[in-house]
Amino acid sequence: MTSPRDHLPELSTEEKASLTSGKDFWTLKPIDRIGLPSIMVTDGPHGLRKQAAESDHLGLSESVPATCFPPASGLGSAFDPELAERVGAALGVESAIEDVAVILGPGINIKRSPLCGRNFEYVSEDPIVAGSIGAGLVKGIQSQGVGSSLKHFAANNQEFERMTASSDVDPRPLREIYLRGFERVVKDAQPWTVMCSYNKINGVYASQDPWLLTQVLRDEWGFEGLVVSDWGAVNDRVAALVAGLDLEMPGGDGAPDRAVATAAASDPAVAAALDVSAGRVLDLVGRAQARPAVAGPLDVDAHHALAREVAGRSIVLLKNDAVDGAPLLPLAEDASIALIGEFARTPRFQGGGSSHINPTRVDSALDALTAAAGDRVDFAPGFAFDAAAEQDALRDEAVALAASRDVAVVFLGLTDAEESEGFDREHIDLAAHQLALLDAVVAANPRTVVVLSNGSVVALPFADRVPAIVEAWLLGQAGGSATVDVLLGAVNPSGRLAETIPQRIEDTPAFGNFPGSNGHVRYGEGIFVGYRWYDARDMAVTYPFGHGLSYTSFAYGAVSAEVTESGDIAVTVPVTNTGSRDGREVVQVYVAPVASAVERASRELKAFASVAIAAGSTTEVALTVRREDLAYWDIRVDRFVVEGGAYRVEAAASSRDLRGSVTVEVAGDAVLVPLTPESTLTAVLAHPVAGPMVAGAFAALQEQFGGEGDGIMSGEAMAKMMGSFPIGRLPAFGWGLDRDGVDQLLAAANAPQG
Ligand code: BGC
Repeated sequence: MTSPRDHLPELSTEEKASLTSGKDFWTLKPIDRIGLPSIMVTDGPHGLRKQAAESDHLGLSESVPATCFPPASGLGSAFDPELAERVGAALGVESAIEDVAVILGPGINIKRSPLCGRNFEYVSEDPIVAGSIGAGLVKGIQSQGVGSSLKHFAANNQEFERMTASSDVDPRPLREIYLRGFERVVKDAQPWTVMCSYNKINGVYASQDPWLLTQVLRDEWGFEGLVVSDWGAVNDRVAALVAGLDLEMPGGDGAPDRAVATAAASDPAVAAALDVSAGRVLDLVGRAQARPAVAGPLDVDAHHALAREVAGRSIVLLKNDAVDGAPLLPLAEDASIALIGEFARTPRFQGGGSSHINPTRVDSALDALTAAAGDRVDFAPGFAFDAAAEQDALRDEAVALAASRDVAVVFLGLTDAEESEGFDREHIDLAAHQLALLDAVVAANPRTVVVLSNGSVVALPFADRVPAIVEAWLLGQAGGSATVDVLLGAVNPSGRLAETIPQRIEDTPAFGNFPGSNGHVRYGEGIFVGYRWYDARDMAVTYPFGHGLSYTSFAYGAVSAEVTESGDIAVTVPVTNTGSRDGREVVQVYVAPVASAVERASRELKAFASVAIAAGSTTEVALTVRREDLAYWDIRVDRFVVEGGAYRVEAAASSRDLRGSVTVEVAGDAVLVPLTPESTLTAVLAHPVAGPMVAGAFAALQEQFGGEGDGIMSGEAMAKMMGSFPIGRLPAFGWGLDRDGVDQLLAAANAPQG
């Protein structure tokens, strides 16, 4: 059996160049002469958007009906990579039935600011959550012989000027926050393709950045697949090819192919890069051909049921206070219900832009609740989506209904016009008419539940005044019925916040640095993204990262942790379901070094598990913290380094609900930093070779100048001050170390160690 790659040597330069850009919006070019078919790639990420006839990027023409699963902001809240894998497998099946070779997802960019218009398509503010869920999706998709496209690589955290802005990020946050999730997905799941992002990183377009696309992605992480451009992301085609961008999408007018062929004819480096990229395209086609044909039709019911199950797992119960002695949720079986809010009748279940799915069906909460509770339910829209509409009469009608029923369930949220791909939000507030409606409803009936429909967080100024709040995100086509499952208690909520709900936009880490100006956005908050920021500043938030309630309760036993032979930390904690309902607990493990030579977050999530625990029973939950995830990026040696010493390991129900902790001793990586004349005395003293050579002289100096007597400063203060002296400047002070001595010291320190 020949594979497409076998034909590489017989292809002309023009044929190879033709492979490196698309035929049109969604397909690659065939080469009939060698029997190479054209394969199709298409969006993603939470459903298939295969346009039926006329292709156009803006989705103006309808796509074939497909299951709309919960977008990433929902799925991420389930904190369950295995669930993500099941969704991925379903996406793979739908792609295979439609003969789609690669589905363009998942998107795992970090939610740097709640304002990013595309946050609904992204998983989390935390790289381990984003990477784990992303890896689950990729594994699932690819288990069906369909490729995934991990996007948008990298540091694409806003929509404002997304095709030109430079994300100016220091090495530590770039590696520890923005690249870490991508690294995890590449290493754990080997996506068939990675999609480079539109933006520049530190001044260089991602599409033509050899550091990003080759050094990091391939040489460091071992990526074996193909790099595709985001649609229209290529600025200089030849530079992009040489940097490691294999396939430009969509197909253009042929000019890029001609430019590549011309450059390859005169420049051996371009010719070599073309061979490599054309070979990767052939490999991709080969992989796609290896999938056996999958006959339809799609089992619409089964996939809708999965979408409903996943949506139920994605819902986060933020608050559920007792009113008249009992929590408001689940709703009492005989309660009369005022169902309020247009979102209950016209659900918002996905975001706008390239991920927009033509769903096979859509469940509304109104229909689902009416089906379950019959004439106990009455509905009033409460408001119209159009902010300019006359809202008062709608509000009055809803308030009257609320006053006359046992409980009011009010659906609030963001409209399509407020959040979408292509632009960012300007604030995190719900529309004023929705907030006014809620205030009036609560005044009329304090037994009020709020249900939120939003792709990324909104401020909750009513959090103290409303007894129950359900964060129902955008939940895909079965979101309406899944929400009712939770309201009525058929599903016990178990979702957790994968992003902090801040009190005010002014509190958020990127405030003042988002979305930048004049072509640059400075990631000034550094590594302190999401909960890392709020914890470092000990700031109040409305609901913390990792938070989410259940209709049952869980108690944690003593945590134990030990470093395994491979250097990972094995953590176990017994968790007991102390309530009367079966439920799921998301056990979270946060880790931080007790002391560090560099700035570190107070705690970072390093492992988590969503565990089903029957009422009254106890489960020993075992989690693994990977050694590599303890590392920080050491800018002195340009690599990840695990510091040796004590690490605090915390088992928690949220980033601010710590249930137990234990300390383990971790062996660090050896780091030999080359010494230069600019190295400080502190660095020299810490050096294994140079340190002992100067220790005696340093102690003598301290003695001489820093005595406790009538010296100008204490010995301790003197030691600190001298510690910051560069070794190369010491000769100027005549303290017994001349220039030759410094040179000898540095030579000895930097000599290869035997
Ligand atoms: C988006 C990608 C998408 C592509 C194809 C781009 O504008 O950024 O996420 O996959 O279009 O529709």
